[in-house]
Amino acid sequence: MSNAIWTRTGPKRALVTGASGGIGEAFARILAEEGWDLFLVARREEELNRVAGVVHAEYGVQAQAFPLDLAQPQATDRLMQRLRARGFAPDVLINAAGFGLAGPATALPRERQLAMIDLNVRATTDLTLRLLPHMRAQKAGGVINLASTAAFMPGPGMAVYYATKAHVLSFTEALAAELQSDGLTISALCPGPVKTGFQATAGMRKTPLLRLLPMSSPGGVARDGWQGFKEGRAIIVPGLMNKLSIQATRLLPRAALRRINAFFTGLRTPSRPALPRKKAMEKKEAATGEPAEKA
Ligand SMILES: NC(=O)c1ccc[n+]([C@@H]2O[C@H](COP(=O)([O-])OP(=O)(O)OC[C@H]3O[C@@H](n4cnc5c(N)ncnc54)[C@H](OP(=O)(O)O)[C@@H]3O)[C@@H](O)[C@H]2O)c1
Repeated sequence: MSNAIWTRTGPKRALVTGASGGIGEAFARILAEEGWDLFLVARREEELNRVAGVVHAEYGVQAQAFPLDLAQPQATDRLMQRLRARGFAPDVLINAAGFGLAGPATALPRERQLAMIDLNVRATTDLTLRLLPHMRAQKAGGVINLASTAAFMPGPGMAVYYATKAHVLSFTEALAAELQSDGLTISALCPGPVKTGFQATAGMRKTPLLRLLPMSSPGGVARDGWQGFKEGRAIIVPGLMNKLSIQATRLLPRAALRRINAFFTGLRTPSRPALPRKKAMEKKEAATGEPAEKA
């Protein structure tokens, strides 16, 4: 069944989370260009108002900004209340709010990692479940959830982040199958590295992930995502390199994948010496007073 949203006349409405920057902002701009009215959510009020102001001024669409911390327990209740109060029933939901944390899971703050699950997993799932009934009733519209190429593999060095994206991909893909006959489109957008505020928030160093893999632009990723959504695709992977890396995850043994990803995220694995060999030998010599033997 084709999605009636593309042939429907009258106003089209989208709720975009994470719209204060990066990929969410890029989606807001693309949808506004096509005449969609927008409801924009993120924490930074000033940035949200900037995006709302720009899309209204440039494209004449209605754009409402609602500053909200979606990782807070009652956040989605508050958002639903606000949508009802404003009479804004989204035809399309884009869940772009999310963040990552780089480092060994045992060294990263536990509370921050749980907040990541609250945002990337809980809020994304909750908003999707809450907004789908309206879309099903009108047999039009759908959801784009931001997953990642990380969703396809284990991520030592960003363990919880990769796990949150595995949830997003699995949940979204399953929903796409469940709702296929309802005329809705449910898509998981799976970019590789994108040049946004994500890397700074995650505390990523210049790891091989950032040094060796090409970085996409948020505008390009959002454009590919929107196009894939229009084509009704359940999984959208922008860029050839990302498509290839996902194919590789299907061919490689899991143990190899774990090692490769530990390298890419810059994790110091226990088998790796903590000090370069020369320094370690100097240390041994200083401690024993004797020349260290070469292994
Ligand atoms: N950049 C990448 O390399 C990459 C790759 C694959 C997937 N992704 C995914 O793409 C999505 C967008 O990331 P991005 O690259 O655009 O990063 P970004 O530039 O850091 O944008 C993240 C957005 O999420 C919002 N946000 C963060 N915490 C929030 C909270 N507690 N409540 C509400 N909003 C919150 C931020 O706004 P405020 O700070 O104003 O709240 C911002 O608008 C994320 O789900 C990310 O995991 C990113």
